[in-house]
Amino acid sequence: MIEIPVNIPGQPTSVLVYRGALESFAAVLKTHGTATLPRRALVCFDRNCAVHANHAVRTLRAEGVAVSEFGLEATESAKSVRAVETIWDAALAARLDRGDCLVAIGGGIIGDLVGFAAATYLRGIRVIQVPTTLLAMVDAAIGGKTGVNRTLPDGGLGKNLVGAFWQPSITIVDANTLRTLGKRELRAGLAECVKHGLIADLELFHDIRKNADALSNNDTTAIDRLLPRAILVKTAIVARDPLERGERAKLNLGHTFGHAIETLPLSSGNLLHGEAVAIGICAAATTAKSMEMINADEQTAITNTLASCGLPQRFEGTTTVDDVLRRMGFDKKNEGGKLKLILPRGLGACEIVSEPPESAVREGLRAIGIHS
Ligand SMILES: NC(=O)c1ccc[n+]([C@@H]2O[C@H](COP(=O)([O-])OP(=O)(O)OC[C@H]3O[C@@H](n4cnc5c(N)ncnc54)[C@H](O)[C@@H]3O)[C@@H](O)[C@H]2O)c1
Repeated sequence: MIEIPVNIPGQPTSVLVYRGALESFAAVLKTHGTATLPRRALVCFDRNCAVHANHAVRTLRAEGVAVSEFGLEATESAKSVRAVETIWDAALAARLDRGDCLVAIGGGIIGDLVGFAAATYLRGIRVIQVPTTLLAMVDAAIGGKTGVNRTLPDGGLGKNLVGAFWQPSITIVDANTLRTLGKRELRAGLAECVKHGLIADLELFHDIRKNADALSNNDTTAIDRLLPRAILVKTAIVARDPLERGERAKLNLGHTFGHAIETLPLSSGNLLHGEAVAIGICAAATTAKSMEMINADEQTAITNTLASCGLPQRFEGTTTVDDVLRRMGFDKKNEGGKLKLILPRGLGACEIVSEPPESAVREGLRAIGIHS
């Protein structure tokens, strides 16, 4: 068991990495970090994670907590204000007051939705994040970004455009929940781990490459070694810049490209968020190479590491460079209509670049298979 404090001024929180935590959930809340046992709780869970939610509910009830349960669908189209309204209504029906709490059990979609409901219900009640995907364990369930998608003026899906910063009182990472996660979803989480290595931890980056097979197969030793390292990159940045006034934007490496292609249709179905991030990192690497921020060997190391994790490096649908550039214009980081990109500077560091040369961005998009 490892407890990682997140020292946000005025809002201290923590991440507890503990296999089996859900089976002693109430005891964990009583004895760890920033959480306490509530009188009433609304446990909101991804319907694909009911088996994990049951453990938490059972232990809370055994301690006398009045628990209500609420199952949610985890799709990007269901990550909406409508879904948040259903959570508010369930919280009202459960008569939750400001001393009570919401518990979010699921991947990033559920965490973002339930977090936003907690940020807004009664102008804010506590939320406990229990991530069940690798992606949410190392990224989405940490740092307090919550929110929903909106439809763009052209009818496309605008990712996470409405939301709030709302820190969880604790994030509880129980890697046993990964046992029911599909291999494709597990690999999608490795994309965010590669991102964390590229941003700030070169050793983590190399470790992922070396252990890619074991990690993709949910090997306990490899995952247990990965989790605290990958989490520490995020918690350190969030503690220094909780409201994304500067450095925190670095965690968006690959995301401006990734968000722009994530909701485009593919002949073979839709991309998972982590898959879109992997493709976005490849586009960022080519853009950085063309701006001489990384060299050819470093670019190859990035694409090879993503490939060793079984992650895609090209967009296989039909769209145009102009269409993707237009979509990138809706990114939250942009200011005054000016594009802002996060690009690697060598391996293990990156920079926030305002108004990168359009020719370099277009080259990045062509490298991932998007043509004019
Ligand atoms: N708030 C943040 O800082 C932040 C950071 C990164 C990503 N995100 C958001 O997170 C979302 C992606 O999250 P995700 O990759 O965790 O995916 P997800 O929540 O979409 O879950 C992926 C799939 O796995 C299923 N699932 C989840 N856990 C499972 C388990 N243990 N067993 C079986 N099935 C399981 C879900 O039902 C879903 O079908 C995106 O909406 C993205 O915008 C937010």
